[in-house]
Amino acid sequence: MTKVMKVRCPAKLNLFLEVLGRRPDGYHELSTVMAPVGIYDTLTVREAKSFVLEVEGPPLPGTNTVEKAYRAVAKRRKIPGVRATLEKGIPAGSGMGGGSSDAAAMIEALDTLFDLGLDLHEVAADVGSDVNFFLERGPALCTGRGEKVAPIASGPELHAVILWPGFSLSTAAVYARVRDFLTHTPRTVIDFLNSFGREGAEGLEKVLFNRLESAAFSLHPELAALRTRLSEGLPCGARMTGSGSALYGLCASGAEARRLAQRVRREFAGFVAPAGVITREVAWRSRKSGSS
Ligand code: C5P
Repeated sequence: MTKVMKVRCPAKLNLFLEVLGRRPDGYHELSTVMAPVGIYDTLTVREAKSFVLEVEGPPLPGTNTVEKAYRAVAKRRKIPGVRATLEKGIPAGSGMGGGSSDAAAMIEALDTLFDLGLDLHEVAADVGSDVNFFLERGPALCTGRGEKVAPIASGPELHAVILWPGFSLSTAAVYARVRDFLTHTPRTVIDFLNSFGREGAEGLEKVLFNRLESAAFSLHPELAALRTRLSEGLPCGARMTGSGSALYGLCASGAEARRLAQRVRREFAGFVAPAGVITREVAWRSRKSGSS
């Protein structure tokens, strides 16, 4: 009997992101609100003789976060090998957290399959700054380097349409550039949190914010122009998620989001992710575990 588990790994969008300063360890202190969005990778984990990772889709740069997660767990507990199969639906290097979501799913899957009783958050923080967020099940205010997660109440139902410009951005490169754009009077997240509880997509226009946009736009000026075009006719405008390169627009209803997605497909070349619902109906980790 081989233990096996199949896990859906949702993407995230940063609805607010302020960089408070650079820390002595080289990371940046953040205040960010992230929300899960219904666009997914799928990870299947099966007991095996040694660790093997198969990625369906284009090869990913660097050491895969799924492998990092396996190594981080293996450092803490004696575990068998596994064959991990990753189907990518979230573009890599897009700021949508695909790698971090996959890593969180791997940590949880190993903990469940082998009954390890791990401190999941402790392992997650060792793998990457955004991994902890994906251990929770909804929108959250994340601080520290992103790993301190405080869930917040679900806001209005929002439908996101994603525009991926067809290239990736390196998180480290964007953070290296953000120094030029830091201010002595950082934006407070309070206004965002107040509006998020009460307003629909329209009311969020003034409070959606991402400090990393200036850094990313200075590396890729075409992103600024794309954002301006995407925001046309959108009540809440458009923003970049995380360190980019994906941009998103928010709509108050599924019908509005479908119209926007059609326009985006017509007007923009490159990958356009399907519209995904955020904050309410994200089918988190529809887990299937068992033996085969
Ligand atoms: O933690 P993670 O491995 O995802 O971070 C990737 C890179 O992004 C870091 O090496 C660092 O350069 C940058 N980063 C940062 N401040 C953060 C998160 C990430 O400078 N809060």
